[in-house]
Amino acid sequence: MVIDRINLNSTLNINLKKKIKIAVVGIGLMGSQHLKALSIARKAKLHSIVDLNKNSIAHAKKFKVPFYRSSTELLNNNKPDAVIVATPNQFHEKHTISFLNAKIPVLLEKPISDNISKAKKIIQSSKKNKTHLLIGYHRRHNSIVTNVKKQIDSGNLGKIVAANVMCWLYKNKDWYKEKWRIRKGGGPLGINLVHDIDLICYLLGPVQFVQASTSNKIRKYDVEDTAIVNFTFQSGALCTLSVSDTIVGPWSYELTAGENPAYPITNQSAYYIGGTKGSIQFPNLKHWFNKGERSWWQPIYHKDMNVRLSRFTLINQINHLCDVVLNKTKPKVTGDDGLQSLKIFDAILKSTKSGKKIKIN
Ligand SMILES: NC(=O)c1ccc[n+]([C@@H]2O[C@H](COP(=O)([O-])OP(=O)(O)OC[C@H]3O[C@@H](n4cnc5c(N)ncnc54)[C@H](O)[C@@H]3O)[C@@H](O)[C@H]2O)c1
Repeated sequence: MVIDRINLNSTLNINLKKKIKIAVVGIGLMGSQHLKALSIARKAKLHSIVDLNKNSIAHAKKFKVPFYRSSTELLNNNKPDAVIVATPNQFHEKHTISFLNAKIPVLLEKPISDNISKAKKIIQSSKKNKTHLLIGYHRRHNSIVTNVKKQIDSGNLGKIVAANVMCWLYKNKDWYKEKWRIRKGGGPLGINLVHDIDLICYLLGPVQFVQASTSNKIRKYDVEDTAIVNFTFQSGALCTLSVSDTIVGPWSYELTAGENPAYPITNQSAYYIGGTKGSIQFPNLKHWFNKGERSWWQPIYHKDMNVRLSRFTLINQINHLCDVVLNKTKPKVTGDDGLQSLKIFDAILKSTKSGKKIKIN
């Protein structure tokens, strides 16, 4: 069992009655969300803040915690019980490995890295140091997603035949002031669709083949602004995912799940999953089915499923991290899950260049 293999030294010093002390590294868009979540999470408290940019000292003052300019500075001072790494993707390897080497469990923001070999090094480091690594695909901590997963696994929808996933957004000018967001790996495939990839794989299982095309015709940056991706799952189910950060539209998980108050919410869905006995759409959760004979000539009914929209996903994720640190549970999203998503991501990029269908190993 994984739990037996992790390093207990990092947990022995933690008084079980005390909150788990968590440092956050990188206080940009996502790091700030984690700071808010940490201020609410019942099992955790903020230990310190690390950022290259000294302007982030304002956050440290607000939350009355120490501020460090680098992970080394933090490690040389007062070690936290766990760390959330929310730096740009290209620094994930360096920061995460420095903490894993110090036997400090890491919740690493998605994607695990900007390339597969770095991702493997991160996973190896977690294994070598027997220290937990969790990847920040926080949607898996949403109660709506848990409900959908139960519906699919229970067989209520029959055999899953196909799925349609939409991620249509419009990112404003300010978003592109950070130059890494217009370079390779910083576009909507890497920032947004990776969440959808993780989620649909969590729901429908491993992907066997990928085929994709991208376009940068509207924004004209190096990275894509739009992509269409087709998956064939090992189960035989087929799925189309479409992503664009240059469409004004209401259909994306971001704008429908209500996880992040920064997004004005629409009463729509972004996921449509169809089976031989019924279909499901979410986050505006509805289950569609025939009451008697299954037939296109018969009325199709829907049941609104009474699951509340969750603003607590990041908080749930932090409480889960605390349980992992205390060896009460195993990581819900492992480094290997992160690597699998990255392999699919890599296959998407290869397919867009070659036009070919790529097999996932
Ligand atoms: N889970 C999600 O929904 C979600 C959403 C957005 C971003 N992210 C991920 O979070 C990570 C950060 O993205 P962002 O949009 O917050 O980026 P950002 O550019 O807004 O913030 C990055 C922060 O890291 C700091 N930083 C950069 N290099 C550093 C270093 N060497 N040491 C310490 N600090 C350093 C920067 O000063 C900045 O404050 C990325 O991996 C991204 O993919 C996840």
